[in-house]
Amino acid sequence: HGAAASSGPLAGRRVLITAGGTREALDPVRFLGNRSSGKQGIALAEAARDAGATVHLIVGHVETELPRGVEISSISSAVELHEATRAAAENADVVIMAAAVADYRPVSVGEHKMKKSEDGTNPVVELTRTPDILRGVVDDRNEHARDQLIVGFAAETGDGEHSVLDFGRAKLHRKGCDLLVVNQVGTSTVFGQDTTEVTVLSARGAEDAHASGSKAEVAQFIMARVGVELGARSD
Ligand code: CTP
Ligand code: CA
Repeated sequence: HGAAASSGPLAGRRVLITAGGTREALDPVRFLGNRSSGKQGIALAEAARDAGATVHLIVGHVETELPRGVEISSISSAVELHEATRAAAENADVVIMAAAVADYRPVSVGEHKMKKSEDGTNPVVELTRTPDILRGVVDDRNEHARDQLIVGFAAETGDGEHSVLDFGRAKLHRKGCDLLVVNQVGTSTVFGQDTTEVTVLSARGAEDAHASGSKAEVAQFIMARVGVELGARSD
């Protein structure tokens, strides 16, 4: 692929995508992390690019190659992702939050590598909440009355009482985004795999849309849903 396509269903649209996992430092050599491979977010960046969009990818830690033909910013922690995303979202038509963001970070980061204690006591790591980046993007959009489509992701397991989609629908409303891409975790599926299964929920009331296949196929499906939402707005 060379320069961004000038035609396609998303031609002229500026799409911001976050992907990969964050790392929350404990000291200069250690961190708290997660198992995100970044594959789905990177596949989304490629699908948006191939649909003609101008793509900005803000990427944390990934286990796969970065795409060509898109602008890339690298971050490590949730706070860095927060700052980069809110700044970049100012001129995006679509924001897709596929990154796996740590919910907590260590309160303090050691300046030096932590040594084992000499007296046999075990350390206790105190954690504090990270900013909710998706909520921040939604709040900024609403405050500035921006015409922006915001897409969140959720990996849910469900419990005895509530299904995965029950939790998904509650999260869609809590976050205030326009679309929520829900995938089912809990088994060995999704993380790091090349195939996936998702349901896209719409705050506008469009029917739930279900898809499964390779992460590239699912990414194309999600970008098609984005196109449908953008079209519904301009009607
Ligand atoms: N997200 C975010 N900032 C955070 C945590 C999550 O922007 N600090 C985004 C994720 O990128 C995703 C969406 O919010 O698009 C949902 O993430 P999820 O972890 O499912 O939601 P939480 O609100 O953290 O809820 P939970 O308690 O279920 O983890
Ligand atoms: Ca979370």
